[in-house]
Formats: sequence, C-alpha cells, structure tokens
Amino acid sequence: MKLEIMPVKEGDVIQLVGIKHKYYFVKLIAGKVLQTHKGIIEHDEIIGKPWGSRVKSHLGNPFYVFQPSIADMLQDIPRNTQIMYPKDIGYIMLRMGIEYGQHVVEAGTGSGAFTSALALRVGDQGKVYSYEQRPDAQNQARKNLNKFGLLDRVDLKSRDIADGFDEEGVDALFLDVKTPYDYISQVRGALKIGGYFGAILPTTNQVIRLIDMLRRYDFAFIEVVETSLRYYKPEPERFRPVDRMVAHTGFLLFARPLDRDSMINADKNIDQDLDVVV
Ligand SMILES: C[S@@+](CC[C@H](N)C(=O)[O-])C[C@H]1O[C@@H](n2cnc3c(N)ncnc32)[C@H](O)[C@@H]1O
Repeated sequence: MKLEIMPVKEGDVIQLVGIKHKYYFVKLIAGKVLQTHKGIIEHDEIIGKPWGSRVKSHLGNPFYVFQPSIADMLQDIPRNTQIMYPKDIGYIMLRMGIEYGQHVVEAGTGSGAFTSALALRVGDQGKVYSYEQRPDAQNQARKNLNKFGLLDRVDLKSRDIADGFDEEGVDALFLDVKTPYDYISQVRGALKIGGYFGAILPTTNQVIRLIDMLRRYDFAFIEVVETSLRYYKPEPERFRPVDRMVAHTGFLLFARPLDRDSMINADKNIDQDLDVVV
C-alpha cells in the first residue's frame, strides 16, 4: 500500500533543519517570514509542500522541512528551571496511560517541557491543567507552549498546590515538585479513583517519604523505576557507546488511589492483596 504524502498546512509546527543540523521550530502563518542565520524564508514557500521537502532561503541556502517529534521539540527548549527529559517522559506517558482526549493535571509547570509533551499527547480534545507558583517559570512555559502552537490545550494556573487543585476526577496527575509528599491529600481530591498518580524525584530520601505518605492515603500498586539511556556512535567502522551519558535524572514513582471503603466491603482480604502489589 502506498500512503499519500500529506502537504504541510498553515498552523502546522515544523522543524526546519539547515546546514550542520542547525534547526528552527516555526508555527506556519501565511504571509510571515522566518529570519535565519542563512537568510530569510517565507512561510508561504513552505505551506503546501510535502513533509520532508527541501526549501531555500533568499540567499540560496537549503533547509529541510520536518514534522518534529516530542524529543526534537524538547532538545533545546529555553528554560529557567530543571526540565524533564524524553527518556523519562516517554515511559511516564505509557505507564500512566496518557491518551488522546484525556484531562490531566501536573505541577510544577517549570519551563513547560513536560507540559508540552502532555499537550501534544492529549491532543485538541484533551486538556492539561498545569500549576506553578513562580511567575518567571510560568512565563517561560507560556512562551514555549505558544511557540509549539499548544497553548490552547493548556490551562496555566498560578498557584501553590498546597492550596489544592480546582479539578476533580481527572485521569492522571503528575508532580515534579521538591516535596510531593506534602500534597497527597490535595492529589486525592483531584484524581479519579483508580486514576494514575506519578512523580519524579531526584533522591531516594524523597522517594521513601512519598511511599510512606501514599500508603497513608490509600494509594496502591506503587512502583518505583529508573530509566537509563545510552547513546552509540553511529560509525560502522568503530561502533561503540559515546564516552559520556546522563547517569541519573530522577526516580519515577507511580501509584493508583483506591476507594478503600467500598473495596473492603467487597473483599475483606483487601489488605493482604494490597500488600502483595504495593
Ligand atoms: C523542576 S521544575 C518542573 C519542570 C517541568 N516538569 C518541566 O519539565 O519543565 C519544578 C517546579 O515546581 C514548582 N513548584 C515547586 N513547589 C510548588 C508548589 N507547591 N506549587 C506550585 N509549584 C511548585 C517550582 O517553582 C518549579 O518551577
């Protein structure tokens, strides 16, 4: 089967890759121009061309037009906080079952790296409610989301999550804050029974405190994992790992809140069952 190659449309976010892999992310708007280090490119030159096409700047320099992946978009994202990386984001999305059309909550927004990935994933029918207490971080996140054309899928809230979340019954809730164990009562209020809770924490001390608090609030199916990613040099004659790797970003923790009362009524052995899976 030969698939039809779709043309690039106005409103699409493209990755424009030039000489020596220098690249730009642009949301295409008819009539606009992009200034690059190798000359000017009109958006109208790109709109209507097939993905993967080669276009030239007014100085004759070539650029390729690609559909960016989430990892491409996050690679050099401007930031004023620590950000989450694709190696963790990819697994979190799968583990927490983040899908098209879902409503999800996260805190803190930080520079909006994870927010952008969530917004792409939940799509135009979903919503991300993202809480942040630092105005400068939220501004940076807003700029990044706007650049990627994702701002309308995100509700950016300026709030200390100690004051709680506005939402109830959301599908998934993720915390990337220093002391997540301080907000588990607020998490329970926002997350649907059986939904997915996730957190990223740099130290084992934080993980232990969080596990303790989750048990107190009737979360079960607790899992703690760490992901590793090692790059290789793509040289056939001397194929080997690169010399350096990021050895540690954070521990990932996942859990589900249970409706303990109704489950205890349904099955008096629930404590024993939970101990097995916790
Ligand atoms: C490491 S950054 C989050 C990075 C983000 N996940 C990303 O990928 O860009 C942590 C953020 O959580 C925010 N934060 C910490 N405690 C908070 C709280 N109680 N309420 C709201 N935001 C909080 C901090 O201000 C900081 O910007």
